Amino acid sequence: MNRILVTGALGQIGSELIPALRERYGEDSVIASDVRMPQRGDVIADGPFERVDVTNLRQVQAAVERREADTVFHLASLLSAVAEERPQIAWEVNMGGLYNVLEVARAQGCAVFFPSSIGAFGPTTPRERTPQDTVQRPTTMYGITKVAGELLGDYYHARFGVDTRGLRYPGLISYVAPPGGGTTDYAVDIFHSAVRHRRYICFLAPDTRLDMMYMPDALHAAIALMEAPAERLVHRNAFNVTAMSFTPAELAREIVRHVPDFEIEYEVDPVRQAIADSWPDSLDDSAARAEWGWSPQYDLESMTADMLEQLHARRRLLREKDA
Ligand SMILES: NC(=O)c1ccc[n+]([C@@H]2O[C@H](COP(=O)([O-])OP(=O)(O)OC[C@H]3O[C@@H](n4cnc5c(N)ncnc54)[C@H](O)[C@@H]3O)[C@@H](O)[C@H]2O)c1
Repeated sequence: MNRILVTGALGQIGSELIPALRERYGEDSVIASDVRMPQRGDVIADGPFERVDVTNLRQVQAAVERREADTVFHLASLLSAVAEERPQIAWEVNMGGLYNVLEVARAQGCAVFFPSSIGAFGPTTPRERTPQDTVQRPTTMYGITKVAGELLGDYYHARFGVDTRGLRYPGLISYVAPPGGGTTDYAVDIFHSAVRHRRYICFLAPDTRLDMMYMPDALHAAIALMEAPAERLVHRNAFNVTAMSFTPAELAREIVRHVPDFEIEYEVDPVRQAIADSWPDSLDDSAARAEWGWSPQYDLESMTADMLEQLHARRRLLREKDA
C-alpha cells in the first residue's frame, strides 16, 4: 500500500481511518474522498482530498489515475436504517459504487478493502456463534447489498486477480464522527446522552443482543487484514470479526458504574428493531484469528471507560474554549 484512496472518508470510520493511515503511510500517501466536501477544521481537510461520487465511474477512475492509487479503502455506502428508507438509492450507491471501484481496480491493478457487516446475515442464519460460512438470506436492502458485495469481491479476485479483502464489521462505537444511520447507532448515542443529559431514550428493546466493536479495534482490523500475507488468506473477503456482544440493558448497567444517576428508557422503533432482530447475537471470528491474527483489545468494560473519558475530555475542552 503506497498510495491509498479512501471513499466515503468523511463518515464514522473514514474520519478515524484517514488519520490512522496517514500516521502509518505518510500524509501525502493517503487521499481522502467523499461525495461531500470536508468542513473547515475537519482533520481530513489537512491532507489530500478529492470529491468523488462513487456512483460515477469516471470520477472514481480520474481520482485513482490522478493520485496513482494502488489501494482503495471503499467505505462509501448508505447504512442499514437509511438504506431501508431509500432502498433504490441504497442499491445504486452500495452496489453501483462497489462495482465502479472494482472495475477501476481491475483496470488499474489496485487492491480493494470492502467492509461488509453483520447485516449480511438474516433471520435464518444461526444466531449464536454465527459461523464464518453459513446461511446468508438477509431481509434488508442493506444486507442484500452486503452479501452481493462480498460475492462480487470474491468474483473479482477469482476471475480477474484483483486483491480484494473485507471484513464483516459489527456495530462500531466511536466518538469522533457521528454514526451514519445504522441499527447499532444507539450504542454511540447513549454515551453522548449519558455525558450531556444523564438520560437516554433507546430505540431498541432492552434485551436486543448484538455484536459491537470499539473504533480502535475496527481500524486495526482493516489495516492488519490489508497488510496480511496474501498466501495466508483462505476466506479473503468478508471475515467475521467481533469484540463484544451486549444488549442495551447491559450497556446501560456498565455506564451506571461510571455515571451513577444515568437512566435509560425505551421507545422501540419498529423498523430498526426488526432489522436488529434479523441479525446474529454473536459472531464466530475464529477464521480471522487463524488466517491473519485478529485479536481485539477492547471489551465492554474498557470500551465504556474510554468512551466516557474521551467525551468528558472533549466537553472540558469545549467549555475552556467558550470561557
Ligand atoms: N459504522 C458501522 O457501525 C458499520 C458497521 C458495519 C459495516 N460498516 C460499513 O463500513 C462502511 C463505512 O461506514 P461508516 O459508518 O463510516 O458510514 P457513514 O454513513 O458514517 O459514512 C459513509 C460516507 O459515505 C459518503 N457517501 C455516501 N454516498 C456517497 C457517494 N455516492 N459517493 C461517495 N461517498 C458517498 C457519505 O457522505 C459518508 O461520509 C460502510 O460500507 C458500512 O456499511 C459500518
